[in-house]
Amino acid sequence: EQINKGNYEHYMQKEIHEQPASLTTTMRGRLIRGGSCKAKTVLLGGLKDHLKTIRRSRRIVFVGCGTSYNAALAARPIVEELSGIPVTMEIASDLLDRQGLIYREDTAVFVSQSGETADTFQALEYAKENGALCVGITNTVGSAIARKTDCGVHINAGCEIGVASTKAYTSQIVVMAMLALAVGDDTISSQQRREAIIDGLLDLPNKVREVLKLDKDMKDLAKLLMNEQSLLVFGRGYNYATALECALKVKEVALMHSEGILAGEMKHGPLALVDENLPILVIATHDACFSKQQSVIQQLHARKGHLIVMCSRGEAAAVGLGGSCRVIEVPQVEDCLQPVINIIPLQLLAYHLTILRGFNVDQPRNLAKSVTTQ
Ligand code: G6P
Repeated sequence: EQINKGNYEHYMQKEIHEQPASLTTTMRGRLIRGGSCKAKTVLLGGLKDHLKTIRRSRRIVFVGCGTSYNAALAARPIVEELSGIPVTMEIASDLLDRQGLIYREDTAVFVSQSGETADTFQALEYAKENGALCVGITNTVGSAIARKTDCGVHINAGCEIGVASTKAYTSQIVVMAMLALAVGDDTISSQQRREAIIDGLLDLPNKVREVLKLDKDMKDLAKLLMNEQSLLVFGRGYNYATALECALKVKEVALMHSEGILAGEMKHGPLALVDENLPILVIATHDACFSKQQSVIQQLHARKGHLIVMCSRGEAAAVGLGGSCRVIEVPQVEDCLQPVINIIPLQLLAYHLTILRGFNVDQPRNLAKSVTTQ
């Protein structure tokens, strides 16, 4: 396995640019393109003996920390939609602090790049004691979480060295989208949607290649933002997770305060912060929430917010406020896969901000790649 930096200066940079390849590996052998009359399907070998139990479960509980939690949050809507099973989210430490309720009828899914995070592992032991079926989604074959879970899926993203997780995040989302397809019923009514998602997955590496071309634009944006105190990131629906993950990246590597905000909560507090100085990034790519996001942009603009808008390619006019705000245009993909595309320019932004601000991008102060103590 290639663990040198190749032509890149930093591991984080290399791992961001590696995503067309890492996503290809994540999907290899798992998506079956049907012939003209055969439906396209998903094969997840590690789950096949447990699919019936998962389908019968009363609830799916996603458990993780940091970026892994955000990946699960990004996948939550599609898992709920295709499985018809309610999905709840648990930050591992909080589940343990509360001794939250886990039932025998639950499927608990533990998401962890390293497979060694202490809180996630302890939450796994706790869920096992309570009789839930435990599924692992990790990047590390033979890790503690991979061994302790009843079944699971390896994301096969390749070794990740940068402390801030990048390529593992996108591979985790893709694995959970495949999990949604595998658990969901192959009914006639869902056929079209399922096929669109499978086609979207197969084309994702190409779209990631396209979005990586924004590298220079993101460096320019980083130059504009490098001396700011703070960055707010507004998202909703599929891209609430993108807002949280962007803010996490900016915090952990660029050491700049940043907050991911659910746009639907704007009027319940965050709006008070808006003025002409504080930069606000709004994710407004095209999906069912688009018109609501347009209205959020209008309201932020009316309060003289310093806006940067991420939108689908060709829609800058619909969101760009007549050229008065900076726009990041990204390729549009199937809505549930859009978080994979949207996070990539934001990973690049965090990377460039860090370099410009003079911090260590691969080993941010005080942080560890794998947090094995509580
Ligand atoms: C640490 C890392 C993060 C990671 C989190 C969860 O905080 O710095 O990048 O997201 O742990 O790690 P895991 O290995 O469980 O995904």
